[in-house]
Amino acid sequence: MSQILEIRDLKALAQRRVPKMFFDYADSGAWTEGTYRANEEDFHKIKLRQRVLVDMTNRSLESTMIGQKVSMPVALSPTGLTGMQHADGEILAAKAAEDFGVPFTLSTMSICSIEDVALATTKPFWFQLYVMRDRDFVRNLIERAKAAKCSALVLTLDLQILGQRHKDLRNGLSAPPKFTPKHIWQMATRPLWCMQMLQTKRRSFGNIVGHAKNVSDLSSLSVWTAEQFDPRLSWDDVAWIKELWGGPLILKGILDVEDAKMAARTGADAIIVSNHGGRQLDGAPSSISMLPKIVDAVGDMIEVHLDGGIRSGQDVLKAIALGARGTYIGRPFLYGLGAGGKAGVTLALDIIRKELDITMALCGKRDIRNIGRDVIAQGL
Ligand code: FNR
Repeated sequence: MSQILEIRDLKALAQRRVPKMFFDYADSGAWTEGTYRANEEDFHKIKLRQRVLVDMTNRSLESTMIGQKVSMPVALSPTGLTGMQHADGEILAAKAAEDFGVPFTLSTMSICSIEDVALATTKPFWFQLYVMRDRDFVRNLIERAKAAKCSALVLTLDLQILGQRHKDLRNGLSAPPKFTPKHIWQMATRPLWCMQMLQTKRRSFGNIVGHAKNVSDLSSLSVWTAEQFDPRLSWDDVAWIKELWGGPLILKGILDVEDAKMAARTGADAIIVSNHGGRQLDGAPSSISMLPKIVDAVGDMIEVHLDGGIRSGQDVLKAIALGARGTYIGRPFLYGLGAGGKAGVTLALDIIRKELDITMALCGKRDIRNIGRDVIAQGL
């Protein structure tokens, strides 16, 4: 991996190593993928102020997210099926994040279970919750996250119904999944990936199988999953979850100023300005374009975080400058994982850390905690 200099290089390598159906699952957005593209493109429209002849020594990227120390303000997003990018993917990513000193967020839809990740790590990780129709299952998941000593609950609000991704449908990644000779061929052309998968027992949704009612095989599991997202989810449910959990709570999937105000009133610890990486409402604005308005509306009431489209340290700095206390990367760490397992995730984090450090210095700043809108260049 010596010639890997940027996240794009990891993406190209992951594409060669991960079977097409799973690479596409990571690398897709809803419908036209317009919002997915806008998340990345809108970062390029923001320009930074170049400053010279200021002391750029002794720089620090250390900060906090919801009061928890981070070596840089970049967490790993919750992503479903991560153990299909690389065998035991959630465990490997959690360990890379732990070594790096940044939060790892385990998805409800992970392959490795809460208990698997807790056993393999030494520091607390965060758990992401989808509120399923089966509220007993939800209650039980929260208890399991507490037992695993998760240090924050990330409650996802923007998936009451599932957005549609053409690539997944074309690849047969649907409920129930359709396995065809094409899939077998896709896997056969990725022998390293096949060997990893043969060596692990974790190939299904670890948080669900054995815990949800009437889920016995892949087919019943995928039907259960598709039926369980709750279209009636409401702010009352948020209050219920907050009460049940009783610990640090982050509300994920806020893209509108009015929703941000509602979220701030719940007493949660943070919101994540997010459109689910462009996987839900195609046609929605990019996360970064909504960030300043949301920060202006609620920034003095609640910590504001951002995900969607971050592909470099420059992007992280722009988000921090526009008022995010913390950021998250989804696909960049998945590409790293597909490209090289734990080392690939570490490399993704390292690329972003170096870019962030140099960018901050060239903007004439030394401490990430003192970055404000003054580093954004005006004009054009
Ligand atoms: C996601 N995302 C997501 N979010 C969530 O709350 N629970 C989940 O299970 C998933 N699953 C998931 C799978 C995959 C393959 C991707 C790419 C994304 C959304 C994720 O947490 C985050 O919002 C975006 O990934 C951020 O955008 P970038 O960094 O991928 O551009």
